[in-house]
Amino acid sequence: MARGFFITFEGLDGSGKTTQLKRLADHLIARSLPVVTLRQPGGTPLGDRLRAVLLDSRSETALGPIALSAELALMFADRAQAVAEIIRPALREGKIILCDRYTDSSEAYQGAGRELGRETVLTMHRILCENLQPDLTILLLPPLETSLRRARRRNQRHMEQCGIDENRFERESDAFYRRIHRAYEEIARRESQRVVIVANDSSIDAIEMCIASVVDDRLAANVSLG
Ligand code: TYD
Repeated sequence: MARGFFITFEGLDGSGKTTQLKRLADHLIARSLPVVTLRQPGGTPLGDRLRAVLLDSRSETALGPIALSAELALMFADRAQAVAEIIRPALREGKIILCDRYTDSSEAYQGAGRELGRETVLTMHRILCENLQPDLTILLLPPLETSLRRARRRNQRHMEQCGIDENRFERESDAFYRRIHRAYEEIARRESQRVVIVANDSSIDAIEMCIASVVDDRLAANVSLG
């Protein structure tokens, strides 16, 4: 491989991106390509601690409500650490990075969902992540109603199994998710070269094949560029 390649997966909670990321990793590993996977928030020792604070709804009982600006700052603390500790070094070593969520999530969830504004998020990205952009973003965007149903079911199952409601974000209102959905559509329109929308209305296997073919094409182009 000529140089590393940075791929992110984006979508609403319950969009199936975590499953698809794992399947893509298996596909690339089967081709003997060097793959690094991570998720945000999390993925580094610091990030895993921040994830626990950010996602565990009990943390609000322990810590009091998290201010919206603090939530955004913690997301970027996590991301800046991942960029420095994992993403930049892996790119230098020519690896393929598969990252479950990145700055598009902050733009969609904090910028639009929490209404902190897109410019605030993009400015933080420029300063704290040296504006490092993915080479390719796979956006799994099923219809809003489908995403909401899946996310609620998953959260319910998780609570029944462990008594822990990890995902504070999944208690948010439908209007919050509508804003996020719209923001993702806008990002895809604005950055149509980088962001590929995979309409999530076919089987898991069909989606997997579609993603693998997009990625194989982009990787081939990357090698010929390098
Ligand atoms: P996670 O359990 O990883 O959910 P999913 O499988 O849907 O990705 O939880 C990540 C949650 O954090 C998700 O609800 C989106 C939210 N989030 C933000 O609000 N901003 C961000 O910048 C990131 C990375 C995640």
